[in-house]
Amino acid sequence: MVHGLGHNARMTTNAPVLTIDGPSGSGKGTISRRVAQRLGWHYLDSGALYRAVGVAAGWADLDLDDHGALVRCTFDTRIGFRDDAAGELRVLVNDVDATDELRTETAGAAASAIAAIPEIRAALKDRQRAFRQPPGLVADGRDMGTVIFPDAPFKVFMTASADERAQRRYKQLNDKGVSVTLDGLLREILARDARDAQRAVAPLRPADDAVHIDTTGLSIEDVVEQVLALVPREG
Ligand code: DC
Repeated sequence: MVHGLGHNARMTTNAPVLTIDGPSGSGKGTISRRVAQRLGWHYLDSGALYRAVGVAAGWADLDLDDHGALVRCTFDTRIGFRDDAAGELRVLVNDVDATDELRTETAGAAASAIAAIPEIRAALKDRQRAFRQPPGLVADGRDMGTVIFPDAPFKVFMTASADERAQRRYKQLNDKGVSVTLDGLLREILARDARDAQRAVAPLRPADDAVHIDTTGLSIEDVVEQVLALVPREG
């Protein structure tokens, strides 16, 4: 199924939302996907929207300092999500499967710069809220619990030490045959954290009512169980 993100917001509902915010590498992407699967809820990877705009801007050769052009690009870019046969989430940018390009450091850096532009955050707000559909939504990002779904009944703020996050990313890239240094990755992670936490709009910060989970030294399954324990289920 393709979840199209048209320009008109669909009606939002009162479906329950579990927000999972935190810095990159905290494990929230993997955990959010698994928790959504276990609950049978929809899943929103909000970072993919910012990355998709970054990739589209790169394709159009736009200057990251030209905010007007980037805002127009945000409105003009079609972003779609679908699950492939293996159950992996694929992201379509203007109908082209850009999943692999979205995961590159270049796309991440462009997304981080783009995410600091208030008009772009505003332009993506309704597209994110449109994911709130029955039976529920797991929303993964930086401002899910603070800005996009402040009324969400379940909120998590997930962290891990910068060293552990660098190690995880190092292993991921190494497994893919990409050669990087641990030191370089740690520096990039710290720089991205600082930019995401210090920007004027929707900086990375926990919602007052978020449950904090530090995933340092924990297995994915342990964290999934901790998160699931927050969501009461029937039966
Ligand atoms: O989660 P990620 O690494 O895919 O996010 C990419 C960038 O987008 C990251 O630098 C911060 C930004 N982002 C954001 O500002 N707000 C979100 N809800 C999600 C991501």
